[in-house]
Amino acid sequence: MKTKILMVCLGNICRSPLAEGILASKLPTDKFVVDSAGTGDWHVGSQPDKRSIAIAKSKGLDISCQKARQFTIQDFIEYDYIYAMDGSNYQNIVALAPNQKSVEKVKLILNELFENENVDVPDPYFGLENGFEIVYNMLDEVCDVIAENLKKNHFNAN
Ligand code: 4NP
Repeated sequence: MKTKILMVCLGNICRSPLAEGILASKLPTDKFVVDSAGTGDWHVGSQPDKRSIAIAKSKGLDISCQKARQFTIQDFIEYDYIYAMDGSNYQNIVALAPNQKSVEKVKLILNELFENENVDVPDPYFGLENGFEIVYNMLDEVCDVIAENLKKNHFNAN
């Protein structure tokens, strides 16, 4: 069975589309599914922000085909791991969790790099252009760790 990972931010147009594209590029598609969603619904159906598309393209990743969608409680059933980009995303997701098992699937993404430090991936939407490069580099670093751990866990469990 494939291991399924969901990346979640607020709008699903800046951070989580990058996280989806970066993590997917580090995992074999025959064993893993990576998707993303937003806790908000403002951008449902939209392409990622052009600044996210551009920074990804400059690193060799094409995320332009992604379409924003809203997180739903069905995602707690569908996905094995749910990564929130910041503390507010984390609270919004956990508030929807139907049970403890669902809560335990939700992690603050940078805690995989800086254990228990609760560091946020900053929202670059209203910020400067270089915010997207900073976010990209943070996500690239943490996705290296996540991909290594996922591959270990997948091969131990299957
Ligand atoms: P994201 O960034 O959560 O990283 O996709 C945002 C995108 C849009 C808005 C906020 C954050 N917005 O308020 O529309």
